[in-house]
Amino acid sequence: MRKVELGKTGEKIPILGQGTWGIKSRKGKDYYESWKNSLRRGIELGMTHIDTAEVYGFGTSEKIVGDLISEYNRDDLFITSKLFPMHMSLRTMKKAASKSLKRLGIKNFDLYLIHWPSPFTSREKQMKILDHLVKEGKTRYVGVSNFSVDQFKESVSFLNTDLVANQLHANITKQNHVSESLPYYQKNKVTLTAYSPLGHKGYSNLEGEMRDKLNSVAKAHDATIQQIAVAWLINHKNVIAIPKAFKIEHVEANAKAAEIILSEKELKLIENTEAS
Ligand SMILES: NC(=O)c1ccc[n+]([C@@H]2O[C@H](COP(=O)([O-])OP(=O)(O)OC[C@H]3O[C@@H](n4cnc5c(N)ncnc54)[C@H](OP(=O)(O)O)[C@@H]3O)[C@@H](O)[C@H]2O)c1
Repeated sequence: MRKVELGKTGEKIPILGQGTWGIKSRKGKDYYESWKNSLRRGIELGMTHIDTAEVYGFGTSEKIVGDLISEYNRDDLFITSKLFPMHMSLRTMKKAASKSLKRLGIKNFDLYLIHWPSPFTSREKQMKILDHLVKEGKTRYVGVSNFSVDQFKESVSFLNTDLVANQLHANITKQNHVSESLPYYQKNKVTLTAYSPLGHKGYSNLEGEMRDKLNSVAKAHDATIQQIAVAWLINHKNVIAIPKAFKIEHVEANAKAAEIILSEKELKLIENTEAS
C-alpha cells in the first residue's frame, strides 16, 4: 500500500484507510465478527488507517475498532476519531474525548478531528480543545472535518499546533472540494481526506455520462468503476481516502485501487462530468 505524508508532519500514512460509519449498535456477535474480519483483511493489505467517530453507532464503531486494536501492535495502526459538535463547554469536550479513548482502549488518538463546525460554540473554543489534547498527549495530530477553506483558515489562527487534515465529502459525483479547495490544501501542505469516496452507496446505480466514462477508463485498467472512482481521488496530490467496505471482496478491490495510476487525460475525462 502506497504511503504519503500526513500534512507536513513527516509521518507517512497509507493513501487508503478504512471507514467504519456503517457499524450498527445492538447487533449480534456474528455481525461484529464479520465487520472485524473485513477490517482485519484491510489491515493485512496495508489499510492500517482506521477512521471512526464518537457518533458512529453511538460509540459502537469506536468499541468495535477498540476490540480490533487490542489484537495488534498499537504502533502498526493509525487511528482517527472525531468530536461531535454537540458538546458546548471545554469540560464536556474533554469528557467526550476521554470516553472515545476509553472505548478505543488506547492512550492517544493518532489524529483527532472536530467532526463539523459547531453551530453552538465558537471556533476559538473548538480549537482550544484540540490544543489542550495535544498538550496532554491525548492525540498526536489534530484536524477538522467538513470545514470550508475560510473556516479552516480561521481555525488555524486560534491554534498553537498545526491542523494537519480536513476530512471532506469528496468523490467523482461531488468534486467541488477537489476542484476548488484542494489547491489551498496542496499549497499549505494539509491532507484532504476524502470521505464517502464511493458516494456512500457504492455507485452500483450510477448512470449517464459519468458511468460511460468510468467504464472506458476501467476497461483500460482492467478494473471496476468503483476502483477508478477511488483511484481518481488519490491520484490527486495531498488526497487520501477512507472507503468503507463490509464485503471482503470490496476491501480487496479497494486495496488494489491504490495501485492504479491514471493519466492526466483520464483524470481530466472524469472531471466535471454529469452523473445521474
Ligand atoms: N467526516 C464526516 O462527516 C464523514 C461523513 C461520512 C463518512 N465518513 C467516513 O468515510 C467513510 C466512507 O464513507 P461512506 O461510509 O459514506 O461510504 P463509501 O465508502 O463512499 O461507500 C460505501 C459503500 O460502497 C460499497 N463499496 C466499498 N468498496 C467497494 C468496491 N470496491 N466496489 C463496490 N462497492 C464498494 C460498500 O459496500 P459494502 O459495505 O457492502 O462492502 C458500501 O455500500 C465512512 O465509513 C466514515 O468513516 C466521514
